[in-house]
Amino acid sequence: MKAFIGLIGRSTYIDQTFAIDATVKSDYFTHSKYVALKTKDALVDQFRNRSGQRPNVDTESPDLRLHIHIFNEQCTVSLDSSGASLHLRGYKTESHAAPISELMAAGLLLMAGWKGQCEFLDPMCGSGTIPIEAYMIARQIPANIHRREFAFMRWSDFDSAMFKNCREELMKAVKPLSYPIKGADKDFSSVKKARLHVDACAYDEIEIIQADFLKSEKSTEGELFILMNPPYDERISIDTQAFYEGIGNTLKRHYAGTEAWMITANQEAIKFIGLKPGKKMKVFNGPLEARLLKFEIYSGSRKKIENDFKI
Ligand SMILES: C[S@@+](CC[C@H](N)C(=O)[O-])C[C@H]1O[C@@H](n2cnc3c(N)ncnc32)[C@H](O)[C@@H]1O
Repeated sequence: MKAFIGLIGRSTYIDQTFAIDATVKSDYFTHSKYVALKTKDALVDQFRNRSGQRPNVDTESPDLRLHIHIFNEQCTVSLDSSGASLHLRGYKTESHAAPISELMAAGLLLMAGWKGQCEFLDPMCGSGTIPIEAYMIARQIPANIHRREFAFMRWSDFDSAMFKNCREELMKAVKPLSYPIKGADKDFSSVKKARLHVDACAYDEIEIIQADFLKSEKSTEGELFILMNPPYDERISIDTQAFYEGIGNTLKRHYAGTEAWMITANQEAIKFIGLKPGKKMKVFNGPLEARLLKFEIYSGSRKKIENDFKI
């Protein structure tokens, strides 16, 4: 503990503020607030003994945040280097009725095998999270490059020149975009939000349009990769059967040559799609148990190519 307080001493100026979060699960310590209070006293005493001065506590926006985790007899003290949760990538300013988190969108895209290999569409893009994350993966843009603040930036030993160099090195690996990336939504207020988020990143190559997926058709001759996050009839109400039947019919009739992925937490709805998923993976969207589903919609030409290969 003493060594750790010493480390904090090196990372903090006396005029900086700090806060302590505590989580406890132990027979000895039953009140997290008490543990946080005692840790604060220990930290303050160390400073006062050494310099006669003490740093102040700021629970809202501290310069330094410490976490104390006690599990039975084991105590872990850690210094928070991130600050606000890392899923907050820094480009989302607008709220949506049923958004997916940036981290979840990126994770689903990677699970689905997205790497920028063909044209991409999220036909129910809401505030634009999936197209933006798909774009970043396709171009190998580092996650969190748009984030302005990390907690470590307030540490006294933060080396801003080294941080700038690291960012520049990472940006050297960014590739040009090979295929279009599109998002669409039926609801114009969602379209406006998605466009604002795309603009915040200055990703002019992402196209966001207003369109009803159930009345749409594939607009590219080439292969298409879809990842969609349709309403679950939780936060956005739908006629579940008609809506999911509509998705299945639209894919079957108008999206030949598409690898379509969908995340839904409405398990009942899956049977209405009327397509057999090639893959079905259990995932959690926040607290909701969901499924990530893959539907291969083959085109005549693709079957022909496969047959040609067999000959
Ligand atoms: C769960 S939200 C998607 C949220 C999005 N992933 C985000 O991060 O903001 C579902 C979206 O589907 C849209 N939607 C519902 N019916 C649609 C349809 N027929 N065609 C296109 N979009 C539709 C809704 O307007 C809503 O924005």
